[in-house]
Amino acid sequence: MVRVKVPATSANLGPGCDTLGLALNLYLEVTADFAADGASFAFYGYGEEVIRNEPGSNLILKAMQKIFSLAKTELPELRLTVKNNIPFGKGMGSSAAAIVAGMWAANYLLGHQFTSSELLHWAVEMEGHADNIVPAVAGGLTTAMLYREKVLYQKVSLPEGIRIIIVVPDFTLPTEKSRSVLPEKVNLQDAVANIQKACFLLASLQNCDFKNISIAMDDMIYQPWRKKFIPGFDQVLFEARKAGAIGVALSGAGPSIIALTTENEKNIGKIMGETLKLYGVSNQVLYLRPVNSGVIYF
Ligand code: HSE
Repeated sequence: MVRVKVPATSANLGPGCDTLGLALNLYLEVTADFAADGASFAFYGYGEEVIRNEPGSNLILKAMQKIFSLAKTELPELRLTVKNNIPFGKGMGSSAAAIVAGMWAANYLLGHQFTSSELLHWAVEMEGHADNIVPAVAGGLTTAMLYREKVLYQKVSLPEGIRIIIVVPDFTLPTEKSRSVLPEKVNLQDAVANIQKACFLLASLQNCDFKNISIAMDDMIYQPWRKKFIPGFDQVLFEARKAGAIGVALSGAGPSIIALTTENEKNIGKIMGETLKLYGVSNQVLYLRPVNSGVIYF
């Protein structure tokens, strides 16, 4: 039997498009065992209805299938139990967590035939981007790079005391839809500004110097196109900064909004949630912490 636990992740952090990602203390837990008396599948938590209505959309099972097929072994009948605390389709890495959970669980059941870097490569291939997969695997704040089909990454240490607020709108925004509005080409000035900001953000976090993070997290490449999906987006960012957030951005492909702070998290979250509500969007506010561990067997 294997039990695997994978954290939620927030990608991009503003300027780090498809590059930066942060692991958070909200988890997907999967238990899998060989089933002698017939396969069974129980799913609890976020996404329960989606999986019930479309069992074929179960990424955990698809990821397990992929690893068994790479091992040239048929996927056996399994007893699978899933407990998911990661909101689905909200820009919090639920699909990355499902892929990582499935692949790591399958590899355990196969007696660890593959290395972690092989699994990482296949997980990124399946997801299409490395920025959620890498922190889901490695934990912490990560910066990822693809080079000749290899996934290369670095973990960046985060200062103690960073608190995370995520405002989760009550509608979903599929990543494909959120990516469909992105332009094929970007303006040189915007590209340079984003490189400056992404580097500045990492250095500021490393040096515990928070004073210009708010400017550094203002993305010029993805966010301007995507914010039209979130009514009141600019106002939520404005109010969060005014209430003391050190930086705010769209979380991954959205529609959730992530804010970083060192204090007054409850107040900032309340103001963000209430502002979004003024624009007719009900929402849930999550108060989270970065976590240094990624996928674990437990
Ligand atoms: N970096 C990705 C995006 C995250 O912004 O589309 C979602 O996979």
